[in-house]
Amino acid sequence: MTTNYKDLGLVNSREIFKKAVTGGYAIPAYNFNNMEQLQAIIMGCAESNSPVIIQVSSGARKYANQILLKHMAAGAVEMAKEAGFNIPIVLHLDHGDSFEICKSCIDSGFSSVMYDGSHLPYDENIEVTKQVVAYAHQRNVTVEAELGVLAGIEDHVVAEKSTYTKPEEVIDFVSKTGCDSLAISIGTSHGAFKFKPEQCTKNTDGVLVPPPLRFDILAEIEKQLPGFPIVLHGSSSVVPKYVNMINENGGELKAAVGIPAEQLRQAAKSAVCKINIDSDGRLAMTAIIRKVLKEKPAEFDPRKYLGPAREELKELIINKNKEVLGSAGKG
Ligand code: G3H
Ligand code: 13P
Ligand code: ZN
Repeated sequence: MTTNYKDLGLVNSREIFKKAVTGGYAIPAYNFNNMEQLQAIIMGCAESNSPVIIQVSSGARKYANQILLKHMAAGAVEMAKEAGFNIPIVLHLDHGDSFEICKSCIDSGFSSVMYDGSHLPYDENIEVTKQVVAYAHQRNVTVEAELGVLAGIEDHVVAEKSTYTKPEEVIDFVSKTGCDSLAISIGTSHGAFKFKPEQCTKNTDGVLVPPPLRFDILAEIEKQLPGFPIVLHGSSSVVPKYVNMINENGGELKAAVGIPAEQLRQAAKSAVCKINIDSDGRLAMTAIIRKVLKEKPAEFDPRKYLGPAREELKELIINKNKEVLGSAGKG
C-alpha cells in the first residue's frame, strides 16, 4: 500500500525554498530518530513559527523502523495543528544512497528525498539522480541531489578529504537531472569533529576558530544558477557549552569543532535555503542527560532525563531559527 504525503498533512519543499531564497533565510533541516527529538523539533519550530524539514537517514530508518517513523511524522503534524500551529512540515529522506530507498520513502509518504550520488563518478550520479527525479516528480515529491564530497562520515560513506563542488559542473548537472535543490561542498563536514585543532586558530576566549567556508565557490555557483535552491550539509556549530558539559560529566569529546554561527548566518542570506543540523541536537541532549544522571545518580525514570534533554533541544532549535537561519516568523 502506498501513502501520499498530502494525506499526512505534509508539503514538499518547492514553495518554502522559493520563499527562503527570495527572503534571504534558510529552512532548518533537523534529523530525528526518536520521539523526544521529533517533539522538540516540531514544538521548537512551531513556537518560533518556522517552516521545518524533519529528516530521516537510512540509519534512523533502521534504528526506529520505517513504518513507525512515518506514523510518528504524521502524528507530529497533527500534534502541531492540534496545538494551534500551522507551519509547513516536510518529511525528507537524508542521504538516500539508492533509487530503491528513495522509491520506498516516496511510496510510504515522504514529501522530499535526497539522492546522494556524490561519491559516484559524475555520469553515474546524473543517471541515478535522473531516475529518482522521474519517479518523484510523477508524485510531486521534491528531490535534493549532491555534487562534491564532504569530509567526515555520511552514513556508510566515509570521506577523508572534501572535494569542493566544481561551479563549472552545476548547470550541466542540474539541467540533466532536473533536481529541485543541490547540496554542495564548500568546507562543511558531518559530525562533531569537523576540523583538526591544527587547522584552527584560537580566539581571545580560547575557542578554536576553523578556516572560513569557501564563500567564493558558493558565489560562483549562485552566478551559474541564479535563484536555484542550494543546500548545506554538515552545518552544526558544535556549541562549546555542550561539549564542555559532556566532558564535565564523564564524557570524552576531544577537540570537537564546528561551523561558526556567523558563517551560517552569512550562508543563510544567500541561495542556501536548507541547512542540515543533526550533531548539535545530539550534543545538547547528551550533555543534559549526562548532567542529570550525574547530579541524580538514583534516578531511573527515563522521563526525568529525556524530558530536560527534549526541553534543551527545543530551546536550541528556537535559538537557531531566530538567531542563525532567520527562519523564525516565516511559517
Ligand atoms: O548526515 C548524516 C546525519 O547526521 C545522519 O546521521 O546516519 O548517523 O543517522 P546517521
Ligand atoms: P551535522 O553533523 O553537522 O549536524 O550535519 C548533519 C547533516 O548534514 C545531515 O545530513
Ligand atoms: Zn548530511
